[in-house]
Amino acid sequence: MASDHPSTPPPGAAADWTVPQDWASYTPADHATWDTLFARQVDMLRDRAAPEFLAGVDILRLSRPGIPDFAELSERLHRATGWEVVAVPGLVPDAVFFEHLANRRFVAGRFIRRPDQLDYLSEPDVFHDVFGHVPLLADPVFADYMQAYGEGGLRAQGFDALTNLARLYWYTVEFGLVRTTQGLRIYGAGIVSSRGESVFALDDPSPNRLGFDLARLLRTDYHIDTYQQSYFVIDSFADLLDQTRNTDFAPLYAQVAGLPALAPDAVLPHDRVWHRGTQAYARQPSLA
Ligand SMILES: [Fe+2]
Repeated sequence: MASDHPSTPPPGAAADWTVPQDWASYTPADHATWDTLFARQVDMLRDRAAPEFLAGVDILRLSRPGIPDFAELSERLHRATGWEVVAVPGLVPDAVFFEHLANRRFVAGRFIRRPDQLDYLSEPDVFHDVFGHVPLLADPVFADYMQAYGEGGLRAQGFDALTNLARLYWYTVEFGLVRTTQGLRIYGAGIVSSRGESVFALDDPSPNRLGFDLARLLRTDYHIDTYQQSYFVIDSFADLLDQTRNTDFAPLYAQVAGLPALAPDAVLPHDRVWHRGTQAYARQPSLA
């Protein structure tokens, strides 16, 4: 995850903000938390996650149970797609984040949530970052998409368009759905790493499920602290990669800069509507 906080690396971090994972410092309780979450989500996702994600989960089954040792994980991932996982102390500046992605390095938090936070955590921990993101990095097409996104991020800095580009990451890498012959499936890391949203995103009548539209996504606001009001459905990872690589973003940024942002629950006349949400969940008084 990136943030726009301007600062230098914290003490103990390298110039590229990486830190040692220090795998030996995890406690048995930390490893037990990972194992509980892992077993629960693998079970939950069997008929919900994209086949490419499910195929990639095996990359996480290392020689020792518990939280993956990034050294061993990176070795396996590198053999598959040339990606590595590096530890960072928390959110890193955008430029650092993009530079890592453009060089096929995924930055991951090293801490794990407490046992009383299994269902919700406001900050990404190692379960979100590794279980949520790494399986798809083992897929050659998605691996290329993530690199293309990082390269696009480095270019976007010159266009004052990071807010727009962050929306693409949000609605694909974090909260994306994909069409398959078995129906809609989850691939976004924010969904696959959440027990509640794994069900909500696919089955609940509340959220919109709309066809992926790159220019539209760049304008669409999102919620960071509750389930999404809209999910966007890609036709395939190949199509997502193709559109990202073959779109000239500069004119697109110029075009959207003059337009208002779209509300997270908006449905536009030209949207391809898979499901028009009732938004009942978002309107619950308890969320107001
Ligand atoms: Fe994430």
